[in-house]
Amino acid sequence: MNILLLGSGGREHALAWRLAQSPGLTKLYAAPGNPGIAQDAECITLDVNDHTAVVRFCESRAIGLVVIGPEAPLVDGLVDSLRAANIPAFGPSRAAAQLEGSKGFTKDLCRRANIPTGAYVRTSTLEQARAALSGFAAPYVLKADGLAAGKGVVIASNRAEAEAALAEMFDGQFGDAGAEVVIEEFLKGEEASFFAVTDGKTVVPFGTAQDHKQVGEGDTGPNTGGMGAYSPAQVLTPELQARAMAEIIHPTVTAMASAGMPYSGVLYAGLMLTAEGPKLIEYNARFGDPECQVLMMRYRGDLAAMMLACAKGELDAAEPDFADETALTVVMAAKGYPGTPTKGGAIDLGAAGASNGGRAAKVFHAGTAMKDGALVASGGRVLGVTATGKNVTEAQQAAYAAVDAITFPTGFCRRDIGWKEVAREAETERPLPRPN
Ligand code: AMP
Ligand code: GLY
Repeated sequence: MNILLLGSGGREHALAWRLAQSPGLTKLYAAPGNPGIAQDAECITLDVNDHTAVVRFCESRAIGLVVIGPEAPLVDGLVDSLRAANIPAFGPSRAAAQLEGSKGFTKDLCRRANIPTGAYVRTSTLEQARAALSGFAAPYVLKADGLAAGKGVVIASNRAEAEAALAEMFDGQFGDAGAEVVIEEFLKGEEASFFAVTDGKTVVPFGTAQDHKQVGEGDTGPNTGGMGAYSPAQVLTPELQARAMAEIIHPTVTAMASAGMPYSGVLYAGLMLTAEGPKLIEYNARFGDPECQVLMMRYRGDLAAMMLACAKGELDAAEPDFADETALTVVMAAKGYPGTPTKGGAIDLGAAGASNGGRAAKVFHAGTAMKDGALVASGGRVLGVTATGKNVTEAQQAAYAAVDAITFPTGFCRRDIGWKEVAREAETERPLPRPN
């Protein structure tokens, strides 16, 4: 089977790497891809906004499956266009992708299906939003309804800050995405990511992870797309995973099907583990980046076969197989990120680049490019250096050993990815005090 993969980030490199290991793969194309993906696929130029051009390409190359990495083409209905041309695609339809594309849509669905989440109000004018603040206590959680590249959430510590943020949001700070603003109850607890794959009827869990959204060590500073991640997330105990499936994922899939918009693809639930149990913070209609990198390091199944079965509504109900080991990704970003990143900096992967999965580290490319035959940085997040170990402590050591083998003077990374879990592991391994 020929496969077309859409996207150009570290997530897509991880998907390309695993798809290339699927026995059923004949040829993998990636659009636009990146220099890392080019090791596993033929990279081509294709405008994903031009659905007719994508369909024509698929027909001309006998593409049997399209895998869509990022959210924008999903929300834009590319899956609908492909399905109309009988081309199987992994990912939700435009209607189903509203679970990521509209915060208000998801909140209303949670209310209807009795899914645990924070209390909320949808507002469409500044006056309405200001008035709604009175129903909440600080800190105030304000969210642009639509896609805002991960930047549409403001947590304001007092009412004046909240009012100022609302004024900017309704003034077009996030464009159309901010035409509506959802005000939400602030949830307390530890955050964790839970993944499930569904074809609209059958649902299987697909691993857990925790990421580090903030740019600075100790989880400080501005938010980014993610500076690192690890899988599994030990805080999501088997009991909590079972609750997440029963109380959040299954009711969502059922509610989407009864609303006439069955959800197919990967469902990425951002959860807050509160004192009352797991509550939904948000849904994404795609894999996370860099969460996908750690999941793909651990996934033992045939990715192409699983994705095709999902796209055709024939998903196997057996639980997917993940290695027991821990995987950890350290993101190396270009200086300036998440503001304006320095572009064009030279990268020498050294010994880290020669290694190839398994126990050794795997370097996933994100914002890289080839210039005059040499690898350079071309984006904010540049590399996802990923390694495995028996626990987070070991995986972290292996990942930083690989980071240290890389020469990237205009880059930086956090040195503490996994710190919460490393501290917990040190705690459990410390010998108990001897009784007197
Ligand atoms: P989102 O884009 O909805 O995932 O929000 C980005 C981040 O804001 C989340 O990862 C949380 O850290 C935080 N956040 C969002 N909603 C809430 C909430 N209701 N309570 C507490 N923190 C939140
Ligand atoms: N790392 C967060 C995300 O992909 O949404």
